[in-house]
Amino acid sequence: MAKHPTDAETEVPSAVDSESYPDSAAVAPPSEATPSSRLSRRSFLSHLGAAGLAAAAPPVLASTSTPTAPPAAQKEALTEGTVALNLRVNGQSHALQLDPRTTLLDCLRENLALPGTKKGCDHGQCGACTVHVNGRRVNSCLSFAVMHRNDEITTIEGIGQPDHLHPMQAAFIEHDGYQCGYCTSGQIMSAVAVLKENVGPTDADVKQAMYGNICRCGAYSNIVAAVQQVRHST
Ligand code: FES
Ligand code: FES
Repeated sequence: MAKHPTDAETEVPSAVDSESYPDSAAVAPPSEATPSSRLSRRSFLSHLGAAGLAAAAPPVLASTSTPTAPPAAQKEALTEGTVALNLRVNGQSHALQLDPRTTLLDCLRENLALPGTKKGCDHGQCGACTVHVNGRRVNSCLSFAVMHRNDEITTIEGIGQPDHLHPMQAAFIEHDGYQCGYCTSGQIMSAVAVLKENVGPTDADVKQAMYGNICRCGAYSNIVAAVQQVRHST
């Protein structure tokens, strides 16, 4: 999988390529505060974390009694609400017991510890969660895990590894097709699917085919260059 830079290593460009395929302005990252009012990310998060804990945790933190195990009836109820299923992910079979409302995205990230697939909008609008199901790309946030018994699911972890990259992963690195990297795994999964789809030869065709994958950093022109390089070399 492509190496994603840390926040500290990344920069948001001063101008977004006007050829970007989605409306970049609609998804631009929040602007920086002025120097005089700027808080460090660490400082901001630590304040936010303290405030968030204070707001959310009083019933727990205020209690001085020793925590007790949940009653047997409660344990039983939690188990009753789950279903057993088997999922095939990246060529491996997994026996799971899930709440039937678990999305495929949450199952991959939380139950199978495959965090390469990202949660962006969680509403089918950004493409960050794109995976392949039986070779076709899907937004995993819009799909329940229980719908995928007997399906072949592939995540970004399944198409390449750091010592053996998929050509599309290598092309994204070569063309700087990412900045923060948050959209990158979804972009790459869509791009790999495009290789097998009936997509015309031009950059405009690629932009149309990738329209469901939003990049808040506006790395679109480099992404298109990466996709086109792989398309023209295979
Ligand atoms: S997280 Fe699924 S489309 Fe945005
Ligand atoms: S590289 Fe940051 S969202 Fe695309």
